[in-house]
Amino acid sequence: MKFFVDTANIDQIQEARALGILDGVTTNPSLMAKEGITGQDNIYEHYANICDIVNGPVSAEVISTDFDGIVQEGRELASIRSNIYVKVPMIKEGVKAIKQLSDEGIRINCTLVFSSAQALLAAKAGAAIVSPFIGRVDDTGHDGVQLIEQIVQIFDTYGYETEVLAASVRSPLHIPQTAQAGADIATCPFQTINDLFYHPLTDIGLEKFLNDYKKVNG
Ligand code: G3P
Repeated sequence: MKFFVDTANIDQIQEARALGILDGVTTNPSLMAKEGITGQDNIYEHYANICDIVNGPVSAEVISTDFDGIVQEGRELASIRSNIYVKVPMIKEGVKAIKQLSDEGIRINCTLVFSSAQALLAAKAGAAIVSPFIGRVDDTGHDGVQLIEQIVQIFDTYGYETEVLAASVRSPLHIPQTAQAGADIATCPFQTINDLFYHPLTDIGLEKFLNDYKKVNG
């Protein structure tokens, strides 16, 4: 399973990369705004900076919601660096644009996916990645992990190569759950990646090993 970090914060991306387990980065307009990145030139420059840190896919999201706008913006984003995946929302105009951009060889991450039917549409249009937002599904009283299972099963049945990316991850538990469900990728907030390392029995066990060593070795 690939691990992406879901942030536009350069320090966090560098720290995640230093851990040696980072495969890519996802951003969205909210995460860019959180970093105070405004204006198209600055936004594109920020994407370039992220791409230069990460040896893997970096998702950069379009703002346009009409076919022509999404296609134009998608081409611009894809030209920033070769590891850009263009994030396109799951709307009718978005699906049409996914088909066009995919046919041009631009890799697409279809975002804001909340049903297996939407995932199927994105795969049919040629998306490289679909992003079901499992935390937001959970928020509505439905089961986000079950949605991952359904999408994985459909893609396996029909042989779609589209990767399933578990997005809107909210807790460390989501990671093993989505891994077990067959997700190809999980994108996590930086804090959630850090939380994955912790287990109290590891700390207790390590302390005992070191104390026992010191008792006999001084
Ligand atoms: O990758 C999408 C993610 O950033 C959304 O997360 O927590 O805003 O639902 P959240």
